[in-house]
Amino acid sequence: MAEWRRVASVSDVNEGAPMLVVVDNEDIALFRVNDEIFATDDLCTHAEASLAEGDQNGYIITCPRHGGQFDIRTGAPKHFPVFSPIRTFPLRIENEDIFIEI
Ligand code: FES
Repeated sequence: MAEWRRVASVSDVNEGAPMLVVVDNEDIALFRVNDEIFATDDLCTHAEASLAEGDQNGYIITCPRHGGQFDIRTGAPKHFPVFSPIRTFPLRIENEDIFIEI
């Protein structure tokens, strides 16, 4: 059953510097673009690589291993060699706290 979990403070997440959090043994990547925060799976769908270690440019995260890209708003694959989307998670902010539904 899905539930809302606090994962970080807004001030913890800096633009261009994805942040890895672990929730119920799941690795989740947090991204900031201006005043918006997004949460996705951390694991690339191509092979074993952490997207939180990738290169973020706006809404696009580039995987550090083979250069595949995803749109962090939708999880959609955007560049070879990734073809499968990553999950995205509903997110809400209360005061300074970030909650995701997982
Ligand atoms: S592991 Fe991410 S593109 Fe290959």
